[in-house]
Amino acid sequence: MAWDDEPTDLATEPLVASRIPSTHPLHQPWQLTATERERYRLMAQRSREQSRRAAAGELDRLHEVNVPALDTRDLMPREEPNGLRALSLYSGGGGLDVSFERAGFEHVASYEILEHAAETLARNRPEWEVHGGADGDVHGVKWKDWRGKVDVLHGGPPCQPFSNAGRQQGHLDPRDCWPATVKAIRAIQPIAFVAENVPALASAKFTDYVRDVIVEPLERSRPRYYMHRVLLEAKDFGVPQVRKRVAFVGFRSKKAYDAFRKPAPTHAWNDPDSDLPRTMGVREALGLAQMEEHPDRLAPTIRSGLTGPRFTTSICNSTSAAKSWAALGLWPNGVAVTREAASAFPTDTGAFRLSVADVALIQGFPPTWTWPSAVYQAVGQIGNAVPPPLGWAVAMAVTAALSAS
Ligand SMILES: C[S@@+](CC[C@H](N)C(=O)[O-])C[C@H]1O[C@@H](n2cnc3c(N)ncnc32)[C@H](O)[C@@H]1O
Repeated sequence: MAWDDEPTDLATEPLVASRIPSTHPLHQPWQLTATERERYRLMAQRSREQSRRAAAGELDRLHEVNVPALDTRDLMPREEPNGLRALSLYSGGGGLDVSFERAGFEHVASYEILEHAAETLARNRPEWEVHGGADGDVHGVKWKDWRGKVDVLHGGPPCQPFSNAGRQQGHLDPRDCWPATVKAIRAIQPIAFVAENVPALASAKFTDYVRDVIVEPLERSRPRYYMHRVLLEAKDFGVPQVRKRVAFVGFRSKKAYDAFRKPAPTHAWNDPDSDLPRTMGVREALGLAQMEEHPDRLAPTIRSGLTGPRFTTSICNSTSAAKSWAALGLWPNGVAVTREAASAFPTDTGAFRLSVADVALIQGFPPTWTWPSAVYQAVGQIGNAVPPPLGWAVAMAVTAALSAS
């Protein structure tokens, strides 16, 4: 059932299957009655009609085109080249790639199974070596060929096997790519690696998994790796969003491992006693007016619909997040392709409609990074990404540890 449903008194009505066939083995169709399906059909029909009228300029604008106050490039200054080469696995739309690039690393290559995500990388950085689609599948690569050509390997293996939304099946989920990641590290033997994931991977439920699949194989490998596990929050790096990530940071040298320090916050959210620069609330960051009825806060966690039950241009998948977006006066569904299109397509509630550029900003991407694919693919890639300012702080901490050792 969709998150924003009103309670229904149709509990006794039988469920009917969708007429649209599943195209993915892990597709989880909605369980709906015929009445509910009809209601959604009418809603979708109305939404399409409104979208058409918006594109034709037939609707009155409620909001001007916004001019953001936050420039995320200020959160992650572009460093001089540091002489280190970075290889990217599971590159998605480029969150970690951008982080390492801005931290001064030379980009060696990216591997990403989704063609449209690889296209984002290729379009933004035509000079990069990008392996997309079947060619980007980490399972088919002869990693040994990269040995001696990579200093730092980074990547965020798919998190669905560990996240609540993905049903937390761990190694039973065919999307689990941690064994492939460990295999790549052992074959390439980089001097350091960064592998990030959802905080659930650090929870008690996956203690055995982490020990058996990640830590022990890398501690027993030749060369062996020494590993830190750090929990980080995007708001501590100036990103106006509630988002936590866990990163495994491994080093071949014990000295570098000892020298590594968890990145210290660069910004502070809502802490008048802190001397750090302030993390903006999301309304301020987007350049929206401060309103008494919509007190400014961090945005709730942006969700990627890419691996969910159906293609969606929404970035929200829970009732509590929907309430937080509503309290902010922001509309997390039907994200528009541009700020201009968002302004021309008023929402029924009067809430501010977000655009792809706004969603990317809330995730910390630089404004110069563009999204060539369809809106659902773009917001899916953005929602899957490491916020670049957070990734930048990790990349800087790795550089510092390597140069101190
Ligand atoms: C959590 S996202 C990574 C996001 C990325 N690190 C960023 O910061 O933007 C995981 C990515 O792994 C990709 N992926 C899944 N299975 C893969 C495979 N077998 N080979 C390569 N990429 C894969 C997914 O398409 C998805 O884009």
